[in-house]
Amino acid sequence: MALVEPRLSTANVPDSWATAPLFSTSGARRFATIATAEGTSLYGTGEIAGPLLRNGQVTEVSTMQPFRRDPPPGLGSLEYDDATPNLYQAHPWVLGVRADGSAFGALADTSYRLRIDLTAGIVFSGEEPFPVIVIEGDSPQEVLRQLGELTGTMELPPLWALGYQQARWSYLPDARVREVADEFRARSIPCDVIWVDIDYMDEFRIFTFEPEGFSDPSGLNDYLHGQGFRSVWILDPGVKVDPGYSVYEEGLAGEHFLLGPDGEPFTGGSWPLDSHWPDFTRPETREWWKAYFPAFLGNGLDGIWIDVNEPSLIFPVGAQFPEDVVHRGGGGLPEATHRRYRNAYGLLMAQATFEALREARPQRRPFVLSRSNFIGGQRYAAMWTGDNSASWAHLYWSVTMSLNMGLSGQPFVGPDIGGFFKTPSPSLYAHWIGVGALFPFSRTHTVSGSADQEPWSFGAEVESTARTAIERRYRLLPYLYTLFHEASTIGLPVWRPVFFADPSDASLRAEDHAFLLGADVLVEPVLTEADPHEFALPDGAWRPFTLVGEDSDSDPAIPTLKARGGAIIPLGEVIQTTTEPSLEPLTLLVSLDDRGQAEGILYEDDGEGYDYRDGDYLLTTYAAERIDGTVALTIASQEGDRQRPERTVNVVVLTDEGTFFGTGSETSVIRVPLQ
Ligand code: NOJ
Repeated sequence: MALVEPRLSTANVPDSWATAPLFSTSGARRFATIATAEGTSLYGTGEIAGPLLRNGQVTEVSTMQPFRRDPPPGLGSLEYDDATPNLYQAHPWVLGVRADGSAFGALADTSYRLRIDLTAGIVFSGEEPFPVIVIEGDSPQEVLRQLGELTGTMELPPLWALGYQQARWSYLPDARVREVADEFRARSIPCDVIWVDIDYMDEFRIFTFEPEGFSDPSGLNDYLHGQGFRSVWILDPGVKVDPGYSVYEEGLAGEHFLLGPDGEPFTGGSWPLDSHWPDFTRPETREWWKAYFPAFLGNGLDGIWIDVNEPSLIFPVGAQFPEDVVHRGGGGLPEATHRRYRNAYGLLMAQATFEALREARPQRRPFVLSRSNFIGGQRYAAMWTGDNSASWAHLYWSVTMSLNMGLSGQPFVGPDIGGFFKTPSPSLYAHWIGVGALFPFSRTHTVSGSADQEPWSFGAEVESTARTAIERRYRLLPYLYTLFHEASTIGLPVWRPVFFADPSDASLRAEDHAFLLGADVLVEPVLTEADPHEFALPDGAWRPFTLVGEDSDSDPAIPTLKARGGAIIPLGEVIQTTTEPSLEPLTLLVSLDDRGQAEGILYEDDGEGYDYRDGDYLLTTYAAERIDGTVALTIASQEGDRQRPERTVNVVVLTDEGTFFGTGSETSVIRVPLQ
């Protein structure tokens, strides 16, 4: 499709990917049908609430409109659920896993609205002709690796973006932002990022600051940085129609706004009411957008959160973005109406914003969070699962959605922990933060006007659960960062379904409460209030372990973690923020397989910047072997030119007979006696 970039064009598809114009015509719709053999399990289809296994489901690949609109605060009846056919993102993609564990992927190569019907095989139906690209692989992992080659992988994020993050709509004024930051440090609950929602703007004019509440954004950011926090600030696409406002005037002068069919800039209601909408299909408009960032980021902002870019009209209530709005294109993109570009609007805004950060600060890695996106959009932005709700069903869907996003090419995903609409019960928040601290993207957020939703807002017991959960995340950070390195190089998801442990085991295909963090850590969370879930678990030795002395048996909100037999999992110390050193000492958790062996990887670099691309990193493969009554741990191989730090390594060996400890320097063999 000549949609966004040539990468997504069938012209670039290597021979190993079969591609065929499979569509046939029936009435006004075009169909592409892929028969599937019995025992084939279907996944992917992007952002959708409901079970992980998608057989029997119908999904609309269309960013929200025309099926629903952005619900105003407090209107619970407009919350999404598993009957909502489409959400904020668009992924015309299905992953199939056959009975024998071999796999394939099918990508409908179109940005037009599409339906994916999985009630009998795979049926794509759309309004315009589209090719289908089919990827074959020996395993689902192999298919995802190839999807990464086709649509691109995410870039390695800054390390701080993997820390725990706290948001609300809105911390207001800036003194409240400081207070929340102070509270984290006073209570010793680790946290890396505080988020700043729309009320910092001057009457919702983008790229401005409200003169009273946020009169000194640089001062606020200096304060946060001084305490080891980063800040992420929201930006909406809608530009207030407001003579005299420079962004409006310059946008008009440069013809940067979407046009109505009459050739005049289209006006649609966003937070500042009447707004014009940047036409991100135009290369000149993307450059214009980027030009605001050096000054804006100059106030010390660390990351950018882009929202309502489905795009969603907010006012008047019920308004829809008209299909005949014109996107003018350029630079290889044809001029076309909103029908063609709607699904790509979020991706194009994310691309422009990502590039804006990179160009404004070439020494730093961009961090962008986007509500809307399109397949391949992992190259530019992380995602959250939008305006969910404080219910047990949403807790469960936050897990299944994140898993299916990973199976659709987007590894960097997480929900509003605790739910956006409504206020969770203490028990619900405890369970949500218990598992939530393990999401690739881990952030609590809540709607305007709701009760406080910080880790300490639900009483001492829940605060203690939250601290434990978040401390576990920080201990796991070296492993998590290694998984993000893997996602950025070969496109594997950070969160993986349990069936990845053995794709040929049919009993694992529908398991969607338990999941895998990478290949080596199995997570067993409690996602139900009543009716306990029975986990379907993979064969082999999966050994429970603890990280901060927690006891999952006495606190069911803390998921049990198990290490795969044969794995070595790198762990750091509990730190309050990623500005503190984490690997002094480094802990290696060794879980031996039935041959008495284990292996694992640790990726390390500066956590920021691009020196790693010039070799300033270390990718270490550790190996452990049981020889008589001792386990010997060595460095099996290493890559990268980074100086190996002198550090102590603590080794924890899990065996069927018990847990054993050793310590030493990794530059020589570390021996752990099994007694
Ligand atoms: C809608 C977003 O989904 C939500 O996260 C945000 O708080 C509000 N817009 C206000 O910006």
